[in-house]
Amino acid sequence: VDHLLGIKYLKPEDIDLIFKTADHFKEVINRPIKKVPSLRDITIANLFFENSTRTRLSFELAEKRLSADVINFSSASSSVKKGETLIDTVNNILAMKVDMVVMRHPNPGAGIFLSKHVDASIVNAGDGTHEHPTQALLDSYSIRERLGEVKGKKIVIVGDIMHSRVALSNIFALKLQGAEVKVCGPKTLIPKHIESLGVKVETNLIKALEWCDVANMLRVQNERMEISYFPSTREYTQQFGLNKKILDSLNKEIVVMHPGPINRGVEITSDVADSNQAIILDQVQNGVAIRMAVIYLLASKINR
Ligand code: CP
Repeated sequence: VDHLLGIKYLKPEDIDLIFKTADHFKEVINRPIKKVPSLRDITIANLFFENSTRTRLSFELAEKRLSADVINFSSASSSVKKGETLIDTVNNILAMKVDMVVMRHPNPGAGIFLSKHVDASIVNAGDGTHEHPTQALLDSYSIRERLGEVKGKKIVIVGDIMHSRVALSNIFALKLQGAEVKVCGPKTLIPKHIESLGVKVETNLIKALEWCDVANMLRVQNERMEISYFPSTREYTQQFGLNKKILDSLNKEIVVMHPGPINRGVEITSDVADSNQAIILDQVQNGVAIRMAVIYLLASKINR
């Protein structure tokens, strides 16, 4: 069985194939009838052990557009609260003849662990601070759509790099496609050995923005911090928040991205998030086509 556990396990040609397939599905979902019968014989379980708005709804919509049968599970209302293990939970769901599992989990590596213990195709929808592969795919796809290609483009990822699965998956995906990548944020929120991944570190936001074609603004993930990594939110915003004045002072027009959820007024102001330079809702729209492509390609490897 094939899985999508992280961008780390992909090759450039895998990304090309996912994008070509997503191009087709993007055209499909813009038709008056947005649905294709491709996965009428497939059942998919969406297991969310951590909160989500975009990823959960986007996967569900992608699965329904492909005509798969879909069941949804949220840990908050489940028997996980009664002490059931992850493997028992998933094996009980698979006993209902489920072919594919889309899972978000707070523990890094949860999808990798599951893929070794259960007989189903696993899609990682975000595993703690580790990876969020479909987010990175939709981010690169959106850059390609706006700028023509990812190769040779200069991308800066700004914010809490330390706790961000979006940052790690984006670094892997962008490097695979030949982009130049910098990370920018407070030193305390940048992992020590990040340069070993082939990225450069810039702690001055203006310098990073002057350099880049695209700025991907991330949220500070306070929920993943046991101690405070930065003096105050106000100070973070002063040093690393993107506002219209900064954007207009640059010597070029850059593309602004954000994976959501946004903390308006902290890492990005509303006038930037809602401007024509921001492609935040394009990212969300492209997420459905990308997830259709991933599910369709994985389903083609399932014996049916
Ligand atoms: N971008 C993202 O993963 O958003 P959700 O947490 O709402 O799914």
